[in-house]
Amino acid sequence: MTEAAAEREGRARFASVADAVAALRPEAPVHCLRPHAARRAAAEFVSAFPGRVLYAVKCNPHPALLDALAAGGIHGFDVAAMREVRQVQRLLPGARCYFMNPVKARSAIETAYRDGGVRHFVVDHPTELGKLVEILGRDPEVTVVVRMTTSATGAAIHLSDKFGAGQAMAAEILGEAAALGFRPGLGFHVGSQCTVADAYRAALANAAGVADAAGVRLQCLDVGGGFPATYAGPPAPPLAAFVDAIREGLAALDLAPDAEILAEPGRALVAHASTLITRVQLRKGGRLYINDGVYGSLSEAKLARIPLPARLIRPDGAPASEQRAFELAGPTCDSLDILPDPVTLPTDADEGDWIAIDALGAYSTALATDFNGCQPETFIEVADEPPARV
Ligand SMILES: Cc1ncc(COP(=O)(O)O)c(C=O)c1O
Repeated sequence: MTEAAAEREGRARFASVADAVAALRPEAPVHCLRPHAARRAAAEFVSAFPGRVLYAVKCNPHPALLDALAAGGIHGFDVAAMREVRQVQRLLPGARCYFMNPVKARSAIETAYRDGGVRHFVVDHPTELGKLVEILGRDPEVTVVVRMTTSATGAAIHLSDKFGAGQAMAAEILGEAAALGFRPGLGFHVGSQCTVADAYRAALANAAGVADAAGVRLQCLDVGGGFPATYAGPPAPPLAAFVDAIREGLAALDLAPDAEILAEPGRALVAHASTLITRVQLRKGGRLYINDGVYGSLSEAKLARIPLPARLIRPDGAPASEQRAFELAGPTCDSLDILPDPVTLPTDADEGDWIAIDALGAYSTALATDFNGCQPETFIEVADEPPARV
């Protein structure tokens, strides 16, 4: 039995989120995991994508989800630090890690290569490439993926302000990596929760220009993550729209015959694999004070204005049929702990009610802090599906 399976054995399971609320009447926030949703999303992504699908561990490293993704056919993992390498090794022996953080500690490069079997490293600056050569030597089995910047088209979270090389710099690093004997590759991240498939077309056209300028035949092309999930707003476009754009872009690239095509989705694989149960602790007019917030599982709602799909659960009675907008405030003493966008709930929502927030499998607990002693720490499993809207 894997560690993840063992851990899962000990976790309470319920038929639905509503059943869990009725049985537990939880005072503290509860994350309701849906490993079946992660497994299904993984299987769908693996069958649609024309290459190898890696899961971005940072998005949600919960063992039950890593286990489910592996069951869905994902055996490669995008890691950002040694702790993630160790976690993947421990939970999923035989899985392969890809070190996709463009800035790495020297000790992490060495240990990941030597003990973690890592052979793929991302760089976005000549100095980082220099670090790789000094530490690993000119190993022809190592793939160096040069991370390019992208424009901000259609993403909720732009990921090129901090990382990525512009065209000329990317071409220079790519040429240098090839000259050093590494397997040369290009990669990008169009930004997280990207709803515009053309962003991938544009990034792949940029990759073609960079490879051309460097005079290098690519042995790896990494389209990154960014694939969207549906939240409270309009539905996200289907995965097929993104895959079509990627296929088109790849067709125009000069790839080596044995070139690897990689994707590193996080959000799209696990967003629907958890619903959070919070409890209302006080109502003040149109504001509900709940027991999780910006410093806990809900920071993306503040930082990226990702609209939360919220629903009221009241096991002992029927809530009002009319709805209104409420502001949600978290449990800490900090005035920043107020969500910027209202949620729509029955007009009589009040202390003691529970609010289920769906589509919280991505960047929720992974970003949660223990500020004010409020870190969510209860995980259960539910067998239901999230509401059709998400
Ligand atoms: C390098 C890298 N790859 C993949 C991901 C996953 O992105 P997403 O969850 O938008 O698919 C991220 C997210 O920050 C990232 O930084």
